Amino acid sequence: MKQIAILGSTGSIGRQTLEVADLFPNELKLVALSAGRNRQAFLQQCRQYQPLVVSLELEEDARWLQEQLAGEGWRPEIHHGLNGLLAVATCPEASTVVTALSGAIGLIPTCAAIKAKKQIALANKETLVAAGDYVTKLAAQNEVKILPVDSEHSAIWQCLQGEAGQSVRRLLLTASGGPFRQYHPEDLSQVTPQMALKHPNWSMGQKITIDSATLMNKGLEVIEAKWLFDIDFDHIDVVIHPQSIIHSMVEYGDGSVLAHLGMPDMRIPIQYALSYPARWFNQLPRLKVTDLKGLTFEEPDTKRFPSLALAYQAGRQGGTVPAVLNAANEVAVYAFLAGQIKFLDIPQVVERTLNQHKGITPSGLEEIIEIDGWARAEAAKIIRNY
Ligand SMILES: NC(=O)c1ccc[n+]([C@@H]2O[C@H](COP(=O)([O-])OP(=O)(O)OC[C@H]3O[C@@H](n4cnc5c(N)ncnc54)[C@H](OP(=O)(O)O)[C@@H]3O)[C@@H](O)[C@H]2O)c1
Repeated sequence: MKQIAILGSTGSIGRQTLEVADLFPNELKLVALSAGRNRQAFLQQCRQYQPLVVSLELEEDARWLQEQLAGEGWRPEIHHGLNGLLAVATCPEASTVVTALSGAIGLIPTCAAIKAKKQIALANKETLVAAGDYVTKLAAQNEVKILPVDSEHSAIWQCLQGEAGQSVRRLLLTASGGPFRQYHPEDLSQVTPQMALKHPNWSMGQKITIDSATLMNKGLEVIEAKWLFDIDFDHIDVVIHPQSIIHSMVEYGDGSVLAHLGMPDMRIPIQYALSYPARWFNQLPRLKVTDLKGLTFEEPDTKRFPSLALAYQAGRQGGTVPAVLNAANEVAVYAFLAGQIKFLDIPQVVERTLNQHKGITPSGLEEIIEIDGWARAEAAKIIRNY
């Protein structure tokens, strides 16, 4: 039985991880859960799974949870805030931590989980974007595996199995292109949060849904792929594939291209990260290849969607630059959702923040966190002038 901790159990990936756990009660046991502010949903999860360690973002919500659970036949340790995330990430009973927080908030707890020698099922790509060099070295020092949950990286990981690294020519990350793939630049200027929150193929948290619409999500995934698969940016390409059936591909030196196909259902890559190296049978909806009506592929348009090019540029510059890209993007996305800036302002805020930063090689995690904070303040300042 694998004992699991989830950082972010009330989110889209967190809830789907619980669904996978429900499918395999003899293989997976939840021992620690954390949530942000959705305390009602979290209370219900606590009652259902009876974890040993739990955490909410706010102290008052943690007190409320304590009151709600008083008088029940079991008592979890209840925490809050960053210390709470650390308690969940390092829960002694857990062997695997699913990192399903959204944003760079995931960085510190993921590092703590690695130091506690937990296997990482990584959905929280912002951790690798902000601190890929640091986190992958930390994982290697602690002999910890970082297993991808993101469907594209899970696909690449599966296509790479049993192959020698030097035989890889390039990785092809597929992208749906988001809801505005065919929009003219003038139409993009009219995009509202409501429009951008309707993703054609996936139901996800708000931040990643907006990132998918700007193509920043794909840019973050390019940087994530660089660190997960130790490959340079010249060998990572993005291909728009609107049907989201091929989750990604690997081209080998002999001209062979291996592709991973599947339903657009995150429970499949979540399950694989938890079952690895085994594959467990499930009853999830199946891909019927004879029903597939034309799979199409096209080049991404970085003129209309400059976020992708910004991410490549930041990734190539390396050092602290990707952390600045990520932090500025987070601030810009939430400002767009709050109606403070327009859709097309998101990449502009990111670019203007990057222009204020001279990248350095960070001395460690503290410096990365410090620069993340600087970038957030700088992006907020830029937004105030819009
Ligand atoms: N969703 C997908 O299909 C998908 C696919 C591939 C990769 N990913 C990646 O997976 C990660 C999670 O995405 P998601 O879509 O699941 O996000 P989400 O639905 O927004 O969920 C985020 C989770 O983090 C919690 N949280 C947020 N801020 C917090 C804070 N300050 N303290 C404690 N908890 C906090 C939220 O709690 P509350 O809701 O309780 O506030 C929620 O449980 C992201 O990095 C995303 O890029 C997602």
